[in-house]
Amino acid sequence: LAQSDTVKIGVILPMTGPSASTGKQIDAAIKLWVAQNGNKAGGKKVEVIVKDDAGVADTTRRLAQELVVNDKVVALAGFGLTPLALATAPIATQSKTPMVVMAAATSAITEASPFITRTSFTLPQATLGLADWAAKNKIKKVVSLVTDYGPGNDAEKYFAERFTLNGGVVMEKLRTPLRGADFAPVLQKVRDAQPDALFVFLPSGQGAAFMKQFAERGLDKAGIRLIATGDVTDDDQLNDMGDVALGVVTSQHYSAAHDSPANKKFVAAFEAANKFRPNFMAVAGYDGMRLLYIGLNGSKGQGGEALMNAMKGQIFESPRGPVLIDAQTREIVQDIYTRKVERVNGQLYNVEFDVQKAVKDPAKNRK
Ligand code: DHB
Repeated sequence: LAQSDTVKIGVILPMTGPSASTGKQIDAAIKLWVAQNGNKAGGKKVEVIVKDDAGVADTTRRLAQELVVNDKVVALAGFGLTPLALATAPIATQSKTPMVVMAAATSAITEASPFITRTSFTLPQATLGLADWAAKNKIKKVVSLVTDYGPGNDAEKYFAERFTLNGGVVMEKLRTPLRGADFAPVLQKVRDAQPDALFVFLPSGQGAAFMKQFAERGLDKAGIRLIATGDVTDDDQLNDMGDVALGVVTSQHYSAAHDSPANKKFVAAFEAANKFRPNFMAVAGYDGMRLLYIGLNGSKGQGGEALMNAMKGQIFESPRGPVLIDAQTREIVQDIYTRKVERVNGQLYNVEFDVQKAVKDPAKNRK
């Protein structure tokens, strides 16, 4: 095939560093997509180039520039953390290169460039259902604890607004730094405050360390319920968390235990190809590739605005459930589940027990 018969997709992921589990999950999901669907789309051969930014925004920006200028990629994808996606947004705009965000989940990201779309989720989208559940389940006083950057700030704000609207009280809003989080000082504050529940957001990869310290400090025994976004009971780590995780209620868009034929097929194929369970990062990587293939088929292999337009408004059945790419906001619309950690056949899973259908990002709805 001649050079013009090939389109390249530049994927930038944290394959090393503190967010390496995000890179590992998404990389595995992209490989599974290509293994199952081949390397042709829009009449062209698709070549996926994966680069490691180690979670450092300056590196993401440099790699994106190189992929656009030297490799002439038709699209950029990946983006394991919010600052990495935001650092790349101006490059997408200037070069008119579509950018598929597969992990980062601060609401504002899709507003940073008209060339950004997203297959992960937003924290406001994932959080409101949990605030409703808490208020209906004898939780009156809450302390919140979030990582102090974009998605944590979104989670803190949307949880507090909704929970307060429902008559609840947020006693204290605690934050931990993104790098090198030591939870001991904040957990002591939670213990002293004696809330009915602690609401937590932490990015993927920090949940196991948090759970360990939550148990070591005796918070589970002190009668403080733990509620969280699904990032904390991440399927990548959940099964190793032990009994302390049992009963934790979370809300999110994906559980490896989601009961649908499409998910059973996805999980079986993923687990056959890898030594680990897919988490919400994997499903977004898989669907991101699907969206790019649909887009390239629609644009006949062209990039730029043609590819962007072909991705807008797409509806498909994901392993997570039905999803839509909102044509106005380029944001994913999806079902959000309330789940509880249970032991199923000897393994810990997030077992879904309630669902809100077709949830749009609430941060955009109100503008
Ligand atoms: C982000 C990263 C995560 O690992 C996650 O679970 C949610 C959000 C982010 O940086 O946007």
